[in-house]
Amino acid sequence: MNPIRVGLLGSGIVGSGVFNVLKRNRVEITRRAGREIVVTQICARNLEKAQALVGNDVKVVADPIQMATSAEVDVLVEVIGGTTISKQATLAAINAGKAVVTANKALLASHGNEIFAIARTKGVPVMFEAAVAGGIPIIKALREGLAANHIEWVAGIINGTTNFILSKMRSQKLSFEEALKEAQRLGYAEADPTFDIEGIDAAHKLTLLSAIAFGIPVQFSKVTVEGISTLQSQDIAYAEELGYRIKLLGITRRHENGIELRVHPTLIPARRLIANVEGAMNAVLIKGDAVGATLYYGPGAGSEPTASAIIADLVDVTRLFTADPEHRVPSLAFQYEALADTPILPMSEVKTATYMRLRVADESGVLADITRILADSNISIDALLQKEAEDGSSETDLIILTHVVKEGAVNAAIARMQMLRTVKSKVVRLRMEELS
Ligand code: HSE
Repeated sequence: MNPIRVGLLGSGIVGSGVFNVLKRNRVEITRRAGREIVVTQICARNLEKAQALVGNDVKVVADPIQMATSAEVDVLVEVIGGTTISKQATLAAINAGKAVVTANKALLASHGNEIFAIARTKGVPVMFEAAVAGGIPIIKALREGLAANHIEWVAGIINGTTNFILSKMRSQKLSFEEALKEAQRLGYAEADPTFDIEGIDAAHKLTLLSAIAFGIPVQFSKVTVEGISTLQSQDIAYAEELGYRIKLLGITRRHENGIELRVHPTLIPARRLIANVEGAMNAVLIKGDAVGATLYYGPGAGSEPTASAIIADLVDVTRLFTADPEHRVPSLAFQYEALADTPILPMSEVKTATYMRLRVADESGVLADITRILADSNISIDALLQKEAEDGSSETDLIILTHVVKEGAVNAAIARMQMLRTVKSKVVRLRMEELS
């Protein structure tokens, strides 16, 4: 059989990984796919760099659309990121009847519904294993391996950069700024780290996980997103004292009246396996009604881990070339006609336990005022920690853990606490998850 011809859009860290792994594992990949998978064209901004990567047997092309629509390409592999050229090239390839394999979570989280709809009318697959949790085959697991289950919730550490920063803040007692600098020095964080540290990258990935977990359209604009840039090391230390670790979690959970969709720093019990995922690694915990909880762990980024996911998609695409489009695995796991319009819940309706840290005057009646506000709002206290005031200080930290309560009630109680003369700075609020 003729080889499957790949047009590789991007020659950076991921593109070079795809090229190198395809070459190195050619024989084994062919044994699995049934046909050889060969990069026949490459398109990149830096043509010399692309040429140096692929040598003389691969055509180097300057125009992404020309490559995406070339009669000599069967599959477009898009690894340039962004949402402009990548979108144009993806749609051009689909309209020309080519399959697309992409690592681009931002593109699919923002334009996935449009892209999947056009791909469906054209009968071509759009695969995106590498878009979520890098080398962990989480899309395959959720879309196919857990197909028997009613998925109840998904919670994941799906951004390695922020997990690295949080690990450093905890283990070496670094400030956020110091840990970020270290992440940049080691090449985990970009020069402009906004997408990672503000939770946007995790929100892109969560959008995709939620869609395939629950059979809903991708809805990035409805994700509640809080990053880690304002997180303080003292809260990490207090959490640890109380038996918790703070992780940036993407959480999506189904209820009868809607779906939670949120990314924020979260306290989780230190004894959970996922709480012990350190450094730049990723982990995703999925709760299905039949299987129970399953945990997936591995590298969420990097050249060859990401290539591993992309090439798995290429093997699937190769096998699909002989399958009737109507009987393929649907992009969003559920049949297109069966996608649900379940609403995404507003954050005020979401229920979690809560961690609060209040900087308070160390004087009589303060605790009573605060607990009165909580009692008035029907918020039950689970644990309370008051630190001795530091020498010479008339203020101290008060840490309160609440039982599970609606976020709206907590917001109202915090607003009231904030008005007290004795509460000296902005109340720190973090959400907690048992994940049991
Ligand atoms: N920047 C991401 C991370 C990897 O830190 O996990 C690519 O999504």
